[in-house]
Amino acid sequence: MNGLFVSFEGGEGGGKSTQIGLLKERLESQGYETVLTREPGGPPSAEAIRDLLITGKVDRWDDVTEALLMNAARAENLSKTILPALSQNKIVLCDRFADSSRAYQGAAGGIDETVINALENIVVGAHWPDITFILDLPVEDGLARAGGRGDANRFEDKQQSYHEAVRQGFLKIAAAEPERCHVIDARQSIDNIADKIFAVVEKKLEGSHGG
Ligand code: TYD
Repeated sequence: MNGLFVSFEGGEGGGKSTQIGLLKERLESQGYETVLTREPGGPPSAEAIRDLLITGKVDRWDDVTEALLMNAARAENLSKTILPALSQNKIVLCDRFADSSRAYQGAAGGIDETVINALENIVVGAHWPDITFILDLPVEDGLARAGGRGDANRFEDKQQSYHEAVRQGFLKIAAAEPERCHVIDARQSIDNIADKIFAVVEKKLEGSHGG
């Protein structure tokens, strides 16, 4: 087995960090080694790019620049954090990955799909997650939850229609790649969601051990 790469996606306020924390605890209690990372961000070089991306005015970056910076951060996270951990057979839990660029910069931001595809080819190549969880909920619910955290970032300041397009973008990815992507209704209880997520990961781990 060559590690396991799990990403968590969805709009704002879907409870990704809570679920990532719970999955990490559960895997570690069973003796698995995990590595937690996030995008944009991860290693210090990518966290520096994150600061540029999520702070400042909503129109700080040209759309293409934004897509390039997201992918620059991703290249750093893959080469410095994700791939080394996978080669040590660890389980990588990544808070957002390339599907976020497809949904935010592509579906919502209007970057042409050919550009998104080209960037994916350059940066991600064959290194797609083994499993992607998409925590889905209506935009109003998500923004209300995220707003309640009191740390609104540049993206949460975008319009409701932008976030609606993000949601539809994720659902489209899931429909196109049902093997990899698992859409989870984020309005369920935290425990229910955690159980569903764990069941999918456990099945994958059993499969990859030939069991
Ligand atoms: P973050 O505070 O991590 O938000 P969340 O808690 O919702 O994950 O901020 C990351 C923001 O960056 C988030 O609004 C989504 C956005 N983003 C993109 O637009 N494109 C990308 O490729 C990635 C990884 C994130």
